[in-house]
Amino acid sequence: MTHKTSFPKNKIRVLLLEGPHPEGVARLREETFDVSVHKGAMSEAELADAIRDVHVLGVRSKTRVTREAIERGKRLLAIGAFCIGTNQVDLETAMLHGIPVYNAPYSNTRSVAELVVADIIMLFRGLYDKVRDAHAGVWVKSAAGSVEVRGKTLGIVGYGHIGTQVSVLAEALGMRVIFCDIVDKLPMGNAVPTVDLRDCLERADVVTLHVPGAPDTENLLGAREIGWMKDGAFLINASRGSVVDVDALRAALESGKLGGAALDVFPEEPRSDEERFTTPLQHMPNVVLTPHIGGSTVEAQRNIGLEVAGKLIRYVNNGSTVGAVNFPAVVLPELAGHHRVLHVHENVPGVLQKVNALFGERGINVAAQYLRTHERLGYLIMDIDKTATREILKELRAFPETIRVRALF
Ligand SMILES: NC(=O)c1ccc[n+]([C@@H]2O[C@H](COP(=O)([O-])OP(=O)(O)OC[C@H]3O[C@@H](n4cnc5c(N)ncnc54)[C@H](O)[C@@H]3O)[C@@H](O)[C@H]2O)c1
Repeated sequence: MTHKTSFPKNKIRVLLLEGPHPEGVARLREETFDVSVHKGAMSEAELADAIRDVHVLGVRSKTRVTREAIERGKRLLAIGAFCIGTNQVDLETAMLHGIPVYNAPYSNTRSVAELVVADIIMLFRGLYDKVRDAHAGVWVKSAAGSVEVRGKTLGIVGYGHIGTQVSVLAEALGMRVIFCDIVDKLPMGNAVPTVDLRDCLERADVVTLHVPGAPDTENLLGAREIGWMKDGAFLINASRGSVVDVDALRAALESGKLGGAALDVFPEEPRSDEERFTTPLQHMPNVVLTPHIGGSTVEAQRNIGLEVAGKLIRYVNNGSTVGAVNFPAVVLPELAGHHRVLHVHENVPGVLQKVNALFGERGINVAAQYLRTHERLGYLIMDIDKTATREILKELRAFPETIRVRALF
């Protein structure tokens, strides 16, 4: 399937669903793209209809972008998922049609880290119980069991984007930080790596989990691992619900093995605010439960809007695919003094040779050439002399391996 996509910016039609952050919308409008915003999500049938003339589609988590919708979007150049995950988009179909899909995976990193810091202080001071009692008119003015976090040891399991941010913030509070990860990580500040998970759990006064949700992290903290933790220690999980065995955690809290826990994520979470939430950890002392709001801040929403808008703009304007979840990643310089041909093709042997032979036969000078491939797709970019572009586009479109060709003038 090929498309002609070289035309003025104000003819680029952008359809944004589910109201992405206004600053992201404004960024796209500044480019003079023709932007329409639809507040809510769309059903599959509505989207299949609305997508026909759209060049750039933006969704959040509620609109499903199915194969049917993508195939109807004959002019579709790129899709922006204005959120963290991309499960709602058929990534493979998009890839096979030469359509990169962008998201903003780390826009809420800092927000999660801040919630974890709040959780740490709440647990060490028994704040949840005190707040609940004060609301109920019960006055418990006591220092018993209430300690400062300064000088205590925080164990971070999973030292990635969020884990490292927590590390920096915790050190600023005067905590000692130890961490474990399955790959070697550069410690931030004075943080110290542990030998393994057990070593980390045995030494920490509070443990916070920041690993991905994956088969090998399922129940990473079960009865055995909780048993390795210090008596009276605290556990925080703001990663994925599957990482902690909540029944084992409840048992450890009931027996007094653990002094408290804070959880933002659960094995079973309501799909909407209307659904009732239940967990075996409800109504337990010094247990802080939050409704998966670690990344839910105004700043994170704004970051998502600006990050995804920026990635879409870069792709439309210069062909860069860095940050696309389903596409070979190419960083491209600004286009100056040439035309740029963007050629998405099936990753089969001999395409580059054929393209170069074509340019050779036509006597076209290629000023710069970039190629990135992944399993099924090749993305070839050529900056060429301005005179020959239209003719070349026509010939490239005729190659059987060509999925899509676009030129930037
Ligand atoms: N609560 C929320 O609202 C919220 C928001 C954003 C992200 N998250 C979750 O937070 C988690 C961490 O996100 P991130 O952006 O820091 O991810 P990341 O990929 O940057 O970091 C994860 C780290 O965990 C390490 N790791 C993987 N398996 C491990 C194991 N078995 N033991 C120790 N380390 C292991 C990886 O090597 C990596 O360094 C993810 O599960 C993500 O879904 C939650």
